[in-house]
Amino acid sequence: MSPSVPRRLAAVTAVAVAGLFAATAPSALAAPGTVTAPAAVSAVAAAPTPPDIPVANVKAHLAQLQSIATANGGNRAHGKAGYKASIDYVKAKLDAAGFTTTLQTFTSSGATGYNLIADWPGGDPNSVLMSGSHLDSVNAGPGINDNGSGSAAILETALAVSRAQLQPTKHLRFGWWGAEELGMIGSKYYVNNLPAAEKSKISGYLNFDMIGSPNPGYFVYDDDPTIEQTFKNFYVGVGIPTEIETEGDGRSDHAPFKDAGIPVGGLFSGADYTKTAAQAQKWGGTSGKAFDACYHASCDTSANIDDTALDRNSDAIAYAVWNLGAATPVPPGPSFENTADVNIPDSPGAAVTSPITVSGVTGNAPATLKVDVNIVHTYVGDLVVDLVAPDGSVYNLRNRSGGSADNIVQGFTVNASSEVANGVWKLQVKDLAAQDTGYINSWKLTF
Ligand code: TRP
Ligand code: ZN
Ligand code: CA
Repeated sequence: MSPSVPRRLAAVTAVAVAGLFAATAPSALAAPGTVTAPAAVSAVAAAPTPPDIPVANVKAHLAQLQSIATANGGNRAHGKAGYKASIDYVKAKLDAAGFTTTLQTFTSSGATGYNLIADWPGGDPNSVLMSGSHLDSVNAGPGINDNGSGSAAILETALAVSRAQLQPTKHLRFGWWGAEELGMIGSKYYVNNLPAAEKSKISGYLNFDMIGSPNPGYFVYDDDPTIEQTFKNFYVGVGIPTEIETEGDGRSDHAPFKDAGIPVGGLFSGADYTKTAAQAQKWGGTSGKAFDACYHASCDTSANIDDTALDRNSDAIAYAVWNLGAATPVPPGPSFENTADVNIPDSPGAAVTSPITVSGVTGNAPATLKVDVNIVHTYVGDLVVDLVAPDGSVYNLRNRSGGSADNIVQGFTVNASSEVANGVWKLQVKDLAAQDTGYINSWKLTF
């Protein structure tokens, strides 16, 4: 499934704007919305279109992992034959697709453990985008949702990179971790044994642990803002509301990366917590029941998967790898524009407003809400310009400052994090000095 094409409304348009603004933030992954000067629309090439990951292929990997468990005492746990067989399966697929694979061994609880690292040749070696999932199960069962789901989805994403012969700006790396269920042993071992110079080259780490839960939620990790925004952009595009992951930040393999100062993010469809009535309302499924009632149990089999959640999350992973790995800056959130002219009467006249109706944006507006203003006026020193939030809160953008210049063609960044995003926003303009006049030409909000 792919994100839908943005809709165009009469004068007010909702446009998913990708890479229109030059990134200025210093972090390896530039935060969206920190830019105040719009660049020319033609300045940056668009990122290549992310593929629709075939969920049938992801399910075929899960069927193989289930067979491996069945043939090896019912699990794929650290130190057991089913784990090594899982590693061998994934490695063979990647080797055949042209990845450079490395098997890293470690010892835990007296048994040999394995991490599998796969590098896609090319890209900037100093800027690595890494995606990872733990491949081990608990002893109790085959671990198909936890975490065959993440493992199979990043495997199929890697194979899609190969099919596309993708040449991203960043270097792409994928990792399958051992012994997560014993306390993130494999991922800790990997991070702790990376030389400092190699750690600093990892611009972002994306973690996928449980993404096909049978009674699914759609949770996005609340860590690096750029990664988080990228996943949210995907979900806005397919019209599925998301929530912030709150089942415990330190509970998967992103934790050692985060501890090492690497920007992290990820997706999660829920484990042993109970789906609320409100969550069932927006996502479907059963309220009062766990997201995954077979969490860490023998029934975490290939029957323990919601295909739709697996499909959407697999597509979201490809969307993130394509966009975060591309040459272009990370796309900002969705933007909404009103291009209808509104006349600004000369002083003494009433304030005028131009409305923008925002919909489909989950939760609050960002701390970096971008407001692009285009006002044609013969003397902008006359004008007070405010942004009015849906609840009536007023944010002053200009207050009769800026002297003798004509026109206001300027981007403002507003901390609107206390405002609910959806609703009618207004640009309000008042002319406080006689003689010069003008009009609101257009304005735009970018979330
Ligand atoms: N890592 C846990 C496990 O494998 C699952 C889990 C629980 C989780 N809460 C989480 C994963 C939050 C990611 C985010 O048993
Ligand atoms: Zn897990
Ligand atoms: Ca106009």
